[in-house]
Amino acid sequence: MTQDELKRLVGEAALDYVEDDTIVGVGTGSTVNHFIDALARIKGRIEGAVSSSEASTARLKAHGIPVFDANAAGPIPLYVDGADESNRRLQLIKGGGAALTREKIVAALAEKFVCIADGSKLVDTLGRFPLPVEVIPMARSHVARRLLALGGQPVWREGVVTDNGNLILDVHGLRIDDPLAFETAVNQIAGVVTVGLFAHRPADVLLLGTEQGVQTLTR
Ligand code: A5P
Repeated sequence: MTQDELKRLVGEAALDYVEDDTIVGVGTGSTVNHFIDALARIKGRIEGAVSSSEASTARLKAHGIPVFDANAAGPIPLYVDGADESNRRLQLIKGGGAALTREKIVAALAEKFVCIADGSKLVDTLGRFPLPVEVIPMARSHVARRLLALGGQPVWREGVVTDNGNLILDVHGLRIDDPLAFETAVNQIAGVVTVGLFAHRPADVLLLGTEQGVQTLTR
Protein backbone atom coordinates (compact mmCIF):
# COMPACT_ATOMS: atom_id res chain seq x y z
CA MET A 1 0.00 0.00 0.00
CA THR A 2 1.17 3.56 -0.63
CA GLN A 3 1.58 5.99 2.26
CA ASP A 4 -1.53 7.81 1.06
CA GLU A 5 -3.54 4.56 1.10
CA LEU A 6 -2.40 3.94 4.68
CA LYS A 7 -3.52 7.47 5.57
CA ARG A 8 -6.91 6.85 3.97
CA LEU A 9 -7.27 3.59 5.91
CA VAL A 10 -6.91 5.32 9.29
CA GLY A 11 -8.87 8.37 8.18
CA GLU A 12 -11.84 6.11 7.51
CA ALA A 13 -11.29 4.00 10.65
CA ALA A 14 -11.62 7.12 12.81
CA LEU A 15 -15.29 7.36 11.78
CA ASP A 16 -16.02 4.59 14.31
CA TYR A 17 -15.27 7.06 17.11
CA VAL A 18 -17.76 9.70 15.94
CA GLU A 19 -20.91 9.90 18.05
CA ASP A 20 -24.25 10.96 16.59
CA ASP A 21 -25.51 14.51 17.20
CA THR A 22 -22.15 15.84 18.38
CA ILE A 23 -19.66 18.46 17.26
CA VAL A 24 -16.45 16.78 16.08
CA GLY A 25 -12.99 18.33 16.54
CA VAL A 26 -11.07 18.17 13.28
CA GLY A 27 -7.30 18.49 12.88
CA THR A 28 -5.17 19.38 9.90
CA GLY A 29 -3.09 17.61 7.26
CA SER A 30 -3.20 15.02 4.52
CA THR A 31 -4.35 12.20 6.86
CA VAL A 32 -7.13 14.33 8.32
CA ASN A 33 -8.23 15.25 4.81
CA HIS A 34 -9.21 11.60 4.36
CA PHE A 35 -11.12 11.75 7.65
CA ILE A 36 -12.96 14.89 6.51
CA ASP A 37 -13.93 13.19 3.24
CA ALA A 38 -15.20 10.16 5.20
CA LEU A 39 -17.06 12.42 7.65
CA ALA A 40 -18.89 13.98 4.73
CA ARG A 41 -20.59 10.63 4.12
CA ILE A 42 -22.20 10.72 7.58
CA LYS A 43 -22.64 14.49 7.86
CA GLY A 44 -26.37 14.12 8.47
CA ARG A 45 -25.61 12.31 11.73
CA ILE A 46 -23.43 15.03 13.30
CA GLU A 47 -24.08 18.62 14.30
CA GLY A 48 -20.88 19.85 12.71
CA ALA A 49 -17.20 20.42 13.40
CA VAL A 50 -14.71 22.61 15.21
CA SER A 51 -11.71 23.10 12.97
CA SER A 52 -8.01 23.56 13.72
CA SER A 53 -7.06 25.49 10.56
CA GLU A 54 -8.32 27.61 7.71
CA ALA A 55 -7.43 24.74 5.35
CA SER A 56 -9.57 22.19 7.20
CA THR A 57 -12.39 24.73 7.56
CA ALA A 58 -12.43 25.21 3.79
CA ARG A 59 -12.54 21.46 3.17
CA LEU A 60 -15.29 20.91 5.74
CA LYS A 61 -17.39 23.73 4.29
CA ALA A 62 -16.87 22.44 0.75
CA HIS A 63 -18.49 19.21 1.93
CA GLY A 64 -21.39 21.15 3.49
CA ILE A 65 -20.34 20.33 7.07
CA PRO A 66 -21.17 23.22 9.45
CA VAL A 67 -18.08 24.66 11.20
CA PHE A 68 -18.52 26.09 14.69
CA ASP A 69 -16.39 28.65 16.48
CA ALA A 70 -14.46 26.95 19.32
CA ASN A 71 -15.89 29.41 21.85
CA ALA A 72 -19.44 28.54 20.87
CA ALA A 73 -18.84 24.78 20.78
CA GLY A 74 -17.47 24.39 24.33
CA PRO A 75 -16.18 20.96 25.42
CA ILE A 76 -16.47 18.33 22.69
CA PRO A 77 -16.37 14.52 22.95
CA LEU A 78 -13.86 13.82 20.16
CA TYR A 79 -10.85 15.30 18.38
CA VAL A 80 -9.33 13.54 15.36
CA ASP A 81 -5.94 14.68 14.11
CA GLY A 82 -2.73 13.45 12.52
CA ALA A 83 0.84 13.69 13.83
CA ASP A 84 4.37 13.99 12.58
CA GLU A 85 5.67 11.56 15.22
CA SER A 86 4.23 9.50 18.06
CA ASN A 87 5.97 7.51 20.75
CA ARG A 88 4.38 4.50 22.43
CA ARG A 89 2.99 6.68 25.23
CA LEU A 90 1.07 8.53 22.46
CA GLN A 91 3.02 11.73 23.09
CA LEU A 92 3.25 13.52 19.78
CA ILE A 93 5.19 15.96 17.65
CA LYS A 94 2.79 18.03 15.56
CA GLY A 95 2.89 21.20 13.51
CA GLY A 96 4.44 20.06 10.24
CA GLY A 97 1.52 21.89 8.65
CA ALA A 98 1.99 24.93 10.95
CA ALA A 99 -1.44 24.47 12.57
CA LEU A 100 -0.09 23.46 15.98
CA THR A 101 -1.64 26.22 18.10
CA ARG A 102 -5.22 25.71 17.01
CA GLU A 103 -4.62 21.95 17.11
CA LYS A 104 -3.53 22.19 20.74
CA ILE A 105 -6.59 24.28 21.55
CA VAL A 106 -9.05 21.85 19.95
CA ALA A 107 -7.24 18.90 21.58
CA ALA A 108 -7.69 20.66 24.94
CA LEU A 109 -11.44 20.98 24.33
CA ALA A 110 -11.85 17.27 23.62
CA GLU A 111 -12.63 14.45 25.99
CA LYS A 112 -10.99 11.93 23.62
CA PHE A 113 -8.13 12.58 21.17
CA VAL A 114 -7.87 9.99 18.41
CA CYS A 115 -4.64 10.35 16.45
CA ILE A 116 -4.47 8.92 12.93
CA ALA A 117 -1.16 8.23 11.21
CA ASP A 118 0.59 5.90 8.83
CA GLY A 119 2.96 3.42 10.49
CA SER A 120 6.09 5.43 9.65
CA LYS A 121 5.15 8.00 12.30
CA LEU A 122 5.69 5.65 15.28
CA VAL A 123 9.11 6.15 16.92
CA ASP A 124 10.84 5.03 20.09
CA THR A 125 12.07 8.53 20.98
CA LEU A 126 10.60 11.81 19.75
CA GLY A 127 12.84 14.31 17.97
CA ARG A 128 13.86 12.92 14.61
CA PHE A 129 11.14 15.09 13.06
CA PRO A 130 12.12 18.76 13.61
CA LEU A 131 9.99 20.14 16.45
CA PRO A 132 7.81 23.07 15.30
CA VAL A 133 7.52 26.07 17.62
CA GLU A 134 5.14 28.95 16.87
CA VAL A 135 6.60 32.31 17.94
CA ILE A 136 5.52 35.93 18.05
CA PRO A 137 7.47 37.63 15.20
CA MET A 138 9.40 40.11 17.42
CA ALA A 139 10.65 37.23 19.62
CA ARG A 140 12.03 35.07 16.79
CA SER A 141 15.73 35.61 17.51
CA HIS A 142 15.34 35.49 21.28
CA VAL A 143 13.41 32.22 21.14
CA ALA A 144 15.95 30.77 18.69
CA ARG A 145 18.81 31.53 21.11
CA ARG A 146 16.93 29.91 24.00
CA LEU A 147 16.16 26.82 21.91
CA LEU A 148 19.88 26.56 21.06
CA ALA A 149 20.62 26.66 24.78
CA LEU A 150 18.16 23.78 25.23
CA GLY A 151 20.24 21.70 22.80
CA GLY A 152 18.39 22.12 19.50
CA GLN A 153 19.18 23.76 16.18
CA PRO A 154 16.26 26.07 15.35
CA VAL A 155 15.60 26.86 11.69
CA TRP A 156 13.18 29.63 10.71
CA ARG A 157 10.49 28.25 8.33
CA GLU A 158 10.85 31.25 6.03
CA GLY A 159 7.83 32.39 4.06
CA VAL A 160 5.38 30.67 6.42
CA VAL A 161 2.93 32.76 8.46
CA THR A 162 0.54 30.82 10.69
CA ASP A 163 -3.25 31.29 10.71
CA ASN A 164 -2.58 33.41 13.84
CA GLY A 165 -0.09 35.73 12.10
CA ASN A 166 3.00 34.24 13.76
CA LEU A 167 6.22 32.49 12.65
CA ILE A 168 7.47 28.92 12.92
CA LEU A 169 10.89 27.75 14.11
CA ASP A 170 11.66 24.07 13.38
CA VAL A 171 14.04 22.65 15.96
CA HIS A 172 16.42 20.05 14.54
CA GLY A 173 18.80 17.69 16.28
CA LEU A 174 16.69 16.90 19.32
CA ARG A 175 16.37 13.66 21.20
CA ILE A 176 13.45 14.25 23.54
CA ASP A 177 13.90 11.77 26.39
CA ASP A 178 11.57 13.63 28.76
CA PRO A 179 8.74 15.08 26.64
CA LEU A 180 6.80 16.47 29.63
CA ALA A 181 9.80 18.43 30.92
CA PHE A 182 10.81 19.60 27.45
CA GLU A 183 7.31 20.85 26.64
CA THR A 184 7.26 22.78 29.90
CA ALA A 185 10.73 24.25 29.28
CA VAL A 186 9.87 25.52 25.79
CA ASN A 187 6.55 26.90 27.01
CA GLN A 188 8.48 29.07 29.52
CA ILE A 189 10.36 31.01 26.80
CA ALA A 190 8.95 34.52 26.35
CA GLY A 191 7.49 34.88 22.88
CA VAL A 192 6.62 31.21 22.39
CA VAL A 193 2.97 30.83 21.47
CA THR A 194 2.92 27.03 21.27
CA VAL A 195 5.39 24.17 21.03
CA GLY A 196 4.32 21.29 18.80
CA LEU A 197 5.02 18.77 21.53
CA PHE A 198 1.82 17.15 22.77
CA ALA A 199 3.06 15.46 25.96
CA HIS A 200 0.89 17.04 28.66
CA ARG A 201 -2.10 16.38 26.41
CA PRO A 202 -1.12 13.26 24.44
CA ALA A 203 -3.48 11.28 22.22
CA ASP A 204 -5.78 8.78 23.92
CA VAL A 205 -5.94 6.42 20.95
CA LEU A 206 -3.51 6.04 18.05
CA LEU A 207 -4.81 4.43 14.86
CA LEU A 208 -1.75 3.36 12.87
CA GLY A 209 -2.05 2.41 9.22
CA THR A 210 0.08 -0.66 8.43
CA GLU A 211 0.28 -3.27 5.68
CA GLN A 212 -1.53 -5.62 8.08
CA GLY A 213 -4.38 -3.12 8.55
CA VAL A 214 -5.25 -0.64 11.28
CA GLN A 215 -3.33 -1.13 14.50
CA THR A 216 -4.95 0.47 17.58
CA LEU A 217 -2.72 1.71 20.41
CA THR A 218 -4.14 3.17 23.62
CA ARG A 219 -2.60 4.75 26.68
C1 A5P B 1 -0.39 20.00 11.11
O1 A5P B 1 0.08 21.15 11.68
C2 A5P B 1 0.23 18.80 11.73
O2 A5P B 1 0.20 18.75 13.08
C3 A5P B 1 -0.30 17.53 11.11
O3 A5P B 1 -1.18 16.88 11.95
C4 A5P B 1 0.86 16.66 10.86
O4 A5P B 1 1.81 17.43 10.15
C5 A5P B 1 0.50 15.40 10.07
O5 A5P B 1 0.30 15.70 8.74
P1 A5P B 1 0.00 14.59 7.66
O6 A5P B 1 -1.27 13.94 8.04
O7 A5P B 1 -0.12 15.38 6.39
O8 A5P B 1 1.16 13.63 7.63
